[in-house]
Amino acid sequence: MKRIRFGIIGCGLMGREFAVAAARWAHLTDMDCAPEIVAVCDANAALFPWYTDNFASIGQTTEDYRALLDNPQVEAVYCAVPHHLHEEIYCAVVRAGKHLMGEKPFGIDLPANDAILACLAEHPSVFARCSSEFPFFPAVGRIARMIESGAFGRIIEVGAGFLHSSDLDPQKPLNWKRIVRFNGEYGCMGDLGMHVCHVPFRAGWIPCNVRAVLSNIVPRRPDGHGGVEACETWDNATLLCDAVDPAAGETFPMTLKTQRIAPGEKNTWYLKVLGTRASARFSTKNPKRLELLEYDGGEQVWGQIDVGCETCFKGITGGIFEFGFSDAILQMWAAFLYELEHGRPPSRFAGCATPEETALSHRLFTAALESQKTSTVVSMYKGENQ
Ligand SMILES: NC(=O)c1ccc[n+]([C@@H]2O[C@H](COP(=O)([O-])OP(=O)(O)OC[C@H]3O[C@@H](n4cnc5c(N)ncnc54)[C@H](O)[C@@H]3O)[C@@H](O)[C@H]2O)c1
Repeated sequence: MKRIRFGIIGCGLMGREFAVAAARWAHLTDMDCAPEIVAVCDANAALFPWYTDNFASIGQTTEDYRALLDNPQVEAVYCAVPHHLHEEIYCAVVRAGKHLMGEKPFGIDLPANDAILACLAEHPSVFARCSSEFPFFPAVGRIARMIESGAFGRIIEVGAGFLHSSDLDPQKPLNWKRIVRFNGEYGCMGDLGMHVCHVPFRAGWIPCNVRAVLSNIVPRRPDGHGGVEACETWDNATLLCDAVDPAAGETFPMTLKTQRIAPGEKNTWYLKVLGTRASARFSTKNPKRLELLEYDGGEQVWGQIDVGCETCFKGITGGIFEFGFSDAILQMWAAFLYELEHGRPPSRFAGCATPEETALSHRLFTAALESQKTSTVVSMYKGENQ
């Protein structure tokens, strides 16, 4: 088993998820390479003991990411820091010649994303991908195979979304994800949008234009220190796009929703594809349920399939057992290491989001901000109203 030595920059919520995925690597049965965490960096040193208590392989803890990048042991970096730091730190990782798994949105805005992609273009030996785990749910894998085989026929409509509900509570205090200078102008689109775009973009369903309606539903929140502060980020975004189905060459409506205030939706990622020959629906609300309608001219009947642990990367869990969030994270990391090692994913949809897909998402979210401002449909290509 080849070991790939990783450093983590940003040891918060997502840094720990990666660390635990690395600790669970024995779950995967067919991998020929594995991550080994040798260094961790965070501005908050209080986070280090959890890592060093659990990972004997960690030889470096530092509050300065430059020190981690100077460590010759480190071959690859997972960077999970607030969005205003993506450009600076991702570019530093790439210039140091380390492979990069960056978190979304891969730059706080379009200029930051452009700068990261330009840096990657100057360092072609660096392998870089963006984190996005939901396509690794087994039911989504089935939908992906249907897309690949053309099973849907002509695409009639696509809907994808990621819905949260905890911000319905107006007393929930602000954190960096609710402050424009740290999270970015995109608001909920920057936070949740790449998750929603990944499968449609991989399918080649590229938006030509967008009409966006964005809402800031709770404009002030407790600051967590007894005061109240402006909460300027967009809470909810609904994007209606003309998308092109490359197989048919025809346009269809695609609706992408990212919402932080969707009552009752704790962490719901969904995908709905309607086609002339088949239709499919999946939501993490019922994580093993795939709804399917296959149409051959007879009755139009929606059926339900319980999809078990049919994973892209084989593991020890029995095929009938349930799959969850941390399994999706493990699968995503398997996809990153597999592609780093083998140069391509095992199949089209079993790969992490590419830098080019993040660039497309930035063009879409930037056009969406313009659409909101002008109340018009904004072209993805010319920056002109249509
Ligand atoms: N893939 C997913 O499902 C998912 C889920 C949540 C967040 N994210 C993304 O992950 C990234 C981090 O989010 P999070 O939820 O882990 O945030 P978090 O606040 O839990 O962790 C971020 C960490 O970065 C550290 N940090 C801040 N400045 C730093 C610096 N200069 N040097 C080193 N460390 C620094 C903070 O101390 C904190 O521990 C964001 O890009 C976010 O959009 C992805």
